[in-house]
Amino acid sequence: MKGVVLAGGTGSRLFPLTKITNKHLLPIYAKPMVFYPIETLVEAGVEEIMIVTGGRNSGDFLRLLANGKQFGLKHLDYTYQEGEGGIADALSLTEHFADGDKICVILGDNLIEGSIRDAVEAFRKQERGARILLKEVEDAERFGVAEVQGDRILGIEEKPKNPKSNYAVTGIYMYDATVYDKVRQLVPSRRGELEITDVNNAYIQEGTMSFSYLDGWWTDAGTFESLLRAANLVAQTKKHTETLESVA
Ligand code: G1P
Repeated sequence: MKGVVLAGGTGSRLFPLTKITNKHLLPIYAKPMVFYPIETLVEAGVEEIMIVTGGRNSGDFLRLLANGKQFGLKHLDYTYQEGEGGIADALSLTEHFADGDKICVILGDNLIEGSIRDAVEAFRKQERGARILLKEVEDAERFGVAEVQGDRILGIEEKPKNPKSNYAVTGIYMYDATVYDKVRQLVPSRRGELEITDVNNAYIQEGTMSFSYLDGWWTDAGTFESLLRAANLVAQTKKHTETLESVA
């Protein structure tokens, strides 16, 4: 399975922090934001990774991440997103990189405490379709929200005013190679973007969407509140791990 980190966009919700740099280069405790999703993929055994970025600061990613050696990788791939087409548009730029393989996509501002290794393994065994990771949250209206019935997802609504559940669709998505055909069939949403939620609903309609629940904390970092929350969660986890190590 190949990995894709989506690190484009204007980061307008973090203005003026993002006036002169890309959101994914901002610090989260001791590391730049984009390090965390890369580490999540590497920990799950994904070794071929493409970074999708854009805008005026795209060159900084190459300086920061170079060939991926610091993550234990042999190589990193990069591509450039022109304009503001949204998550699904960014994904469409990775078709030649995926080259028919399954992919695990992670949004560059999504941080997790635990591991996605089991979900990635489950998706390796899954013959076709997609797999998403859900997390119970208190502010579901900020996210894509899944309506779940037993082991099935009935549908996903993007930032609903009245969420049908508390299960947020995290920014970690696993897709087979048909994802690119699905993206080609999308029409822009009201905010003028190709929505990842529409891609996921296409898999749900096809009957090939599976899901796992994510263990441990999960947060995005695209607003002032969540940026601070992410830093605090990382710092607390680090302290906790150090305490456990010192008593071991
Ligand atoms: C995006 C997706 C949303 C998902 C979220 C996870 O939202 O559109 O479905 O729940 O990422 O971080 P955005 O960050 O564009 O608000």
